Amino acid sequence: MGLPRLDGQVAIVTGAAQGIGEGVALRLAHEGARLLLADRATDLVEARASALRAAGSEALAHPIDLASCADLPALVARAVSAFGRLDILVNVAGILQAKRFLDVTEADWDRITTLNQKSLVFLIQAAAAQMLAQIPADVRAAQHCERSYGKIVNFSSISGRHGRALQVHYAASKAAVISITQSAALAFAPFLNVNAVSPSVVPTAMWEQNDREKSQILGLPPGTSMQEFVDRIPLRRAGTPADMAAAVAYLCSADADYMTGQTLNVDGGFEMN
Ligand SMILES: NC(=O)c1ccc[n+]([C@@H]2O[C@H](COP(=O)([O-])OP(=O)(O)OC[C@H]3O[C@@H](n4cnc5c(N)ncnc54)[C@H](O)[C@@H]3O)[C@@H](O)[C@H]2O)c1
Repeated sequence: MGLPRLDGQVAIVTGAAQGIGEGVALRLAHEGARLLLADRATDLVEARASALRAAGSEALAHPIDLASCADLPALVARAVSAFGRLDILVNVAGILQAKRFLDVTEADWDRITTLNQKSLVFLIQAAAAQMLAQIPADVRAAQHCERSYGKIVNFSSISGRHGRALQVHYAASKAAVISITQSAALAFAPFLNVNAVSPSVVPTAMWEQNDREKSQILGLPPGTSMQEFVDRIPLRRAGTPADMAAAVAYLCSADADYMTGQTLNVDGGFEMN
C-alpha cells in the first residue's frame, strides 16, 4: 500500500461489523480516514471501532437499524458532531434471501427492498445534503469544480446484472442499486462522485446464508452453490473483503475524481462468463 490517500477525511461505512464492510472500514482506516461505523450488530460494531482505535485510527461505532429511514439523518449528524464534516459514504450493508419465485411473500419483498434500496436512497439523500452544504458558496454558485467535494460508493452484485430464479427480490434490489447510483451521480454532479462496486462471490456470513438456503431448496449438499459460482470465476478463486475494499479505496480517492455513475465489477471476471 502506498501513501494514505484519505488523510483526515471523514467516512461513514454501513454494514461495518463484519464481512465486506469490516474490510472496507479497515482499509479506509489505513488510508487515513476518520470513521463512523454503522451496523445493527451492536456488540460487533463496537468491537470493530475499538479495535481500530487501539490500532491508532479515529473510529466510532453507531449502532443503528438502517431499515428505519427516520433514523438515517441522525447517522449523518453523528458523523458531523463527532468529526466536524462528512466526505465519504460507503453503503455496504445489505441483506439477501434465497427463495423460490412462487414462494416469495410481500413481507419478504418489503424486507429485502426496504434495506437494499429504500434506505440506500434516503441515506444517500442525508449524506449528499451534508456534503453539498460543505461546498464553498462561490464554488456552488459557479456550478463548476476542479475536484470532488464528496464520494459515495454503493454495493450492487452480479445478481443485479442478471435475473435470479431463486432471488427475485434480492436481484431486483441490486439492479436498483445500479440505477440509484446513476441517478445520484447525475443529481449531485459536478460536485459529488457516486459509484458502485459489484462483487461476485466473497465468503462472508451472507454467502454462507445464500449457500445454505439454495442448497436446501435444491436438495444439494452444503457448499455446492458456492463452489458452482467459484468454478465460473476466470481468476479461479473467490474474492475477499480486502479485494472489495481496495476498489472502494480507489473510488474514494482523488484518483477516481473523473469517475461517476459507474458500477465496477470486482468479480474475478465472473461477469464475462
Ligand atoms: N458476499 C458476497 O459474495 C456478495 C456478493 C455480491 C454483493 N454483495 C453485497 O455486499 C454487501 C456486503 O455483503 P457481505 O457479504 O459483507 O454481508 P454480511 O451479511 O457479511 O454483512 C452485512 C452487514 O450488514 C449489517 N446489516 C444488515 N442489515 C442491517 C440493518 N438493517 N441495519 C444495519 N446493519 C445491517 C449486518 O449486521 C452485517 O454486519 C451487501 O450489500 C451485499 O449485497 C456481497
